[in-house]
Amino acid sequence: MSDDVLVSVSGARKTYPVRNAWGRVTGHLDAVAGVDLDVRAGETLGVVGESGSGKSTLGRLILQVEKPTAGEIVFADDVPGALARRMQVIYQDPFSSLNPHRTALQNVLEPLQVAADLDAAAALERARESLAAVGIEGDAVHKRPRAFSGGQRQRIAIARAIAPRPTFIVCDEPVSALDMQVQAQVTELLQKLQREFGLTYLFISHDLSVVREIATRTAVMRRGRIVELAPTAALFDDPRHPYTQRLLEAVLVPDPARARERLAQIATRPAEDADTGAPERPLVEVAPAHFVAL
Ligand SMILES: Nc1ncnc2c1ncn2[C@@H]1O[C@H](COP(=O)(O)OP(=O)(O)O)[C@@H](O)[C@H]1O
Ligand SMILES: [Mg+2]
Repeated sequence: MSDDVLVSVSGARKTYPVRNAWGRVTGHLDAVAGVDLDVRAGETLGVVGESGSGKSTLGRLILQVEKPTAGEIVFADDVPGALARRMQVIYQDPFSSLNPHRTALQNVLEPLQVAADLDAAAALERARESLAAVGIEGDAVHKRPRAFSGGQRQRIAIARAIAPRPTFIVCDEPVSALDMQVQAQVTELLQKLQREFGLTYLFISHDLSVVREIATRTAVMRRGRIVELAPTAALFDDPRHPYTQRLLEAVLVPDPARARERLAQIATRPAEDADTGAPERPLVEVAPAHFVAL
């Protein structure tokens, strides 16, 4: 594993049983169908692709909340027990990660008591610091999640993620549920925190415009595979895979609001061309650091 690689994914596959309406297993589906990917220290690696392409499954494999059916995920200096603290996650819906019965401060404190080796006073200090870093201060820290707006709730979830001082955060559609103006603020916040704490992000989103904004490199997923991987600017300026080209066509629409709308439609629409059974194609380097499965 080369020096700057934080997480190395090789040959990762995750197969799920497919069940019919009666719960009987009728087949199998490769949600992740053979992925090789290195996440480099300090980068934001964007993962895009339509709904169902396997982005979240890849995220869960990397987080080690699920085991791959085949292949492996290796972390640099993988200290046993330390991994839970060093790796955190931010989901689309903060309600799924925040306890509604606890205050913002309690929510941020909770993982610190499990993951970080801090005494009670230091943990409290750390939780307050983390909330302050996302702009939640004063009496607000004693309010419950319901008292906050969607954007503020996501800030609390972010504070909870950074509190144990991780090195790596999987962001799975972290701004997708927010309206556009709030999206921009939360994206900026994530960038600020990255600089401040030297974080590495795996940034999953079906929204190409957000990924274009934040990612250093971008991987395009389709049906469990990476079909293109390139520095973000190269991917958007010179997409090589027909699937990437289709996703990006919408960006050429001059009206930005309309472009966003079209992107959202394309990215969430199930693939319409039937190439099931097409041979697995390896990624080939077509330009410096630009890989395509052609
Ligand atoms: N726990 C699961 N059991 C069965 N199928 C699953 C499970 N999780 C995901 N899948 C299936 O795997 C595919 C990829 O899902 P997912 O990784 O959530 O895609 P994405 O995040 O890109 O929308 C989908 O077809 C989905 O229905
Ligand atoms: Mg998902």
